[in-house]
Formats: sequence, C-alpha cells, structure tokens
Amino acid sequence: MKSLILFGGTFDPPHAEHVAMAKAAVEEKKPDKIIIMPTATPPHKKTFHAATAKDRLEMCRLAFGDIRGCEVSPLEINAGGKSYSYITVGKLAEKYVGYKIYFLMGTDMLSSFHKWKNPEEILRFCVPLLCVRKGEGETAEETLNGFEEKFSVRPEALSFQGGEASSTECKLRILLGLDADGLLPESVAKYVVENGVYPSDEYFSYIRTHLKEKRIVHTLGVMLAAKKYAKQANADENAALTAALLHDAAKYEDPADYPDFKAPAGVPEPVMHQYLGAYIAEKVLGVKDEDILNAIRYHTSGRKGMSLLEKIILTADKLERGRTFDGVEELRKIASEDFEKGFKEVLYRTSYKYIEKSGKSVYSLTKEALEDYVKEK
Ligand SMILES: [Fe+2]
Ligand SMILES: [Fe+2]
Repeated sequence: MKSLILFGGTFDPPHAEHVAMAKAAVEEKKPDKIIIMPTATPPHKKTFHAATAKDRLEMCRLAFGDIRGCEVSPLEINAGGKSYSYITVGKLAEKYVGYKIYFLMGTDMLSSFHKWKNPEEILRFCVPLLCVRKGEGETAEETLNGFEEKFSVRPEALSFQGGEASSTECKLRILLGLDADGLLPESVAKYVVENGVYPSDEYFSYIRTHLKEKRIVHTLGVMLAAKKYAKQANADENAALTAALLHDAAKYEDPADYPDFKAPAGVPEPVMHQYLGAYIAEKVLGVKDEDILNAIRYHTSGRKGMSLLEKIILTADKLERGRTFDGVEELRKIASEDFEKGFKEVLYRTSYKYIEKSGKSVYSLTKEALEDYVKEK
C-alpha cells in the first residue's frame, strides 16, 4: 500500500529538531511522500514577531527540501484564515486515493487532539504518528494509551526520540543577538540573516545594546518562562513576552543619568532598577500599556493587588531556567501545575525568606504583597 506522511506546523522558523523528526519518520515508515504543511496564521491572531508566510514556506523548502519524497505544500497558507486539520486531511485523502496517510505529531499535539475541530473526521482519513521528544512529562506508552481510551484508535509511534527544541527560542535568540547555531539547519540560519526574517525593533535593540550578555541570556529565560505561564494562565502571551523582554532594561543604568526620574522613598538598592526600568520603558521606548509598565515596575518587590501579568513576570524572573538556587526545581513543578500557587510560593520563599535570612529588612511593598497573598504563612 502506498503511504504518505503529513507534517504540519507553524514552522516559525523550522528548526533542526523538526528536520530530524521528519527524517526519522521517513526512515522508519518509508512513505512514498512526505508533505510539509506550514499553517496559515489568521490575521486577528498576532504572533510575536511572526515571519511572513512567504518566508516560512521558503525556510521549509530549505530545511526539508532534500528529504526523499518531500513536498512543501502552500495549501493551508493559500487557503488563508485559520487552518483546520480535518479540512487539510480530507483534501489530501481526495487527492491521494488509496494511500495510507500518517499524521506526524508530537506529544502535546496528540494529547490535545480531542480539542481539535472534528477529531473523529481527521481519524477517518489518517493515522496519527507520534514522535516523542526528550524531557516530555509523558512516556509514549502513556500518550498512546490515553489516546486509545478516548478514540478507540491506537496511533503509531516512531522509535526515534527527538531532542528538546522550540521555534520560539530560535526566534528570540536571533532577535536578542544570541547564537542560534546548531538549533537551526544551516541553510535556514543563512536565509534568516540574508532576508532579515526577524527584524529587530526598538525594544530588542535597546536590550541588545544596554545589557551584558549574561543578562540577555537571563532575559531570554524569563521570556520563555513568561510565555509558558501566560499560556497556562490564559493571559496575553505577547504582553508577557514584551514585559519579560524589558523587565531588566535598567539593570546597568544609573538613576543619576535620568534627571526627570523620581524613585519612591525608601527603595532598597537592588529594587531600584524596577522603577527605572518602567521609566525607561515608558519615556525612552514609548511603551504605553499600563499593565506591561506595572509588570516591569514591580517585578522584584511585588505589591498588593497584583495583576496576572505582574505575577507572571515576577514568577518567571525567579524561576527561569538559568536560576539554580536551592528548591528552584520544586517551585517550578508547583508553578507548572498551578500557576497561582507557584506565584505565592515564589513570593514567600524567594522574597520573604531570603530577605529574612540575609538580615535585611523587608521592603514595604514586598511586605504588603506577602500580607495580601500569603496570609496563611
Ligand atoms: Fe530584575
Ligand atoms: Fe530579571
């Protein structure tokens, strides 16, 4: 029986692990064709620094082009609007009569399959093909069993295990001027540079020129964590990314260089940069969103009555992957299971306990935040 593999995704940008996954699928299933399908992004859904559809198609051609039987399809991009897999798969089934169609996907996609539009319809035409990546919470067996329970169909799985990688990280590294070598196929990396696929803007330029590399790496970590928590807590991911990008903008700035800047009274020195950071974001970079400014302004101290975005930035700052303090793993685990609980624990353990241990007095805003959120402690 002839067969084909469908591999869809945003591919913004396609990274080396995507390619490894496609290659492994071809190696193991020996299909007659593999169709790479970049999704269309609906105009109302604003993705953070999205590449154009044309660039995504071109990057896919470069990344996957030399895989045997590979075709990069503009079907969904040309259709525009929101892409629905059941429509795509239906069209492929019509065109490729008699083919067994595999739908290549990762654990997160397979686990959320029941939330897709018309999942049963998709399963009429194709067999999900799971590729597990390292570091994922579930094993292939658990994912396959869970799926089978819901749909009475057992997907197939590749024996290949992919590595950890994320398009968002690739994109942010490029925007932050950090090395993305090895994460992207060489041809894609070259294309990105030559065609300015991810042009910098004023915010990124400021961070690139005012922070030391070590602090930029920290900023990347905070952005990735903030995006994750925003998604988890149903907050605006773009606002979280912007606030995280700028949260330490003033880390190396001297308040004396900003004569119009006025700090509130009694601010401890390590906390000062949150106020100056908000000032720079507003006055120098023109940020208008009050919530983003407040997320920067209170990211170290916290305060009472914090917005969800403020909580996300404070938590992401403390739990980003570069942090190594005692107990950080446990806090990460709590936060990824229950964000609010994670936030409160972070506030208590990293702010209060830490300051208490160091013998310094607790800053008034932090004290108020603790009274507000951690009363029971
Ligand atoms: Fe900070
Ligand atoms: Fe920070």
